[in-house]
Amino acid sequence: MATFGGDMAQNGYTVEQMISAKAIAARIEDLAREIEATFKGTDKLVVVGLLRGSFVFIADLVREIDLPVEVDFLEASSYGDAMRSSREVRILKDLRGEIGGRDVLVVEDIVDTGHTLNHVMGLLRSRGPARIKTIALLDKPSRREVDFHADWIGFEIPDEFVVGYGIDYAQRNRNLPYIGKVKMDT
Ligand code: IMP
Ligand code: MG
Repeated sequence: MATFGGDMAQNGYTVEQMISAKAIAARIEDLAREIEATFKGTDKLVVVGLLRGSFVFIADLVREIDLPVEVDFLEASSYGDAMRSSREVRILKDLRGEIGGRDVLVVEDIVDTGHTLNHVMGLLRSRGPARIKTIALLDKPSRREVDFHADWIGFEIPDEFVVGYGIDYAQRNRNLPYIGKVKMDT
């Protein structure tokens, strides 16, 4: 049985718990109530998860939303050039379903510079959804490069590199049940 020891040394860094699994679950309950109120009466809400980081969040979120829901996924990749403020965002995997005339909720793990969600929202809006909203588990407002605001945020965090609850560092740590910050060994 894995213990997920938060401070366990691994590959030159340790992970220190920042947001507990319990706190995440409590926040998701509140967010789900707000989402239900916003989309009350919808015939179907298409919940779109951005792969791969949102897979744990979307799984917990949809199970709290008491509305008719369809789940779809989209994968975008941002090729970052830290020195430039404009980044190329590519769609690696598009939605399977149509969203024209539908109510859509886009689910992201973290809004950082804002380029990914800004680009994805431009694309999805061009398909003519009835209503489209965004939710991100985490927001790092101090890192923003484009003016983007998610409709709902789980937690605002400082400029720290975080992992867990679906979020990775070099494809690792997605299975941590909490959000932790990466502390490089010195
Ligand atoms: P943005 O386009 O800069 O807003 O990119 C957001 C994406 O960058 C997120 O979906 C994550 O995949 C990734 N990202 C941003 N901050 C972190 C972090 O602290 N840990 C892991 N991935 C991150
Ligand atoms: Mg991502």
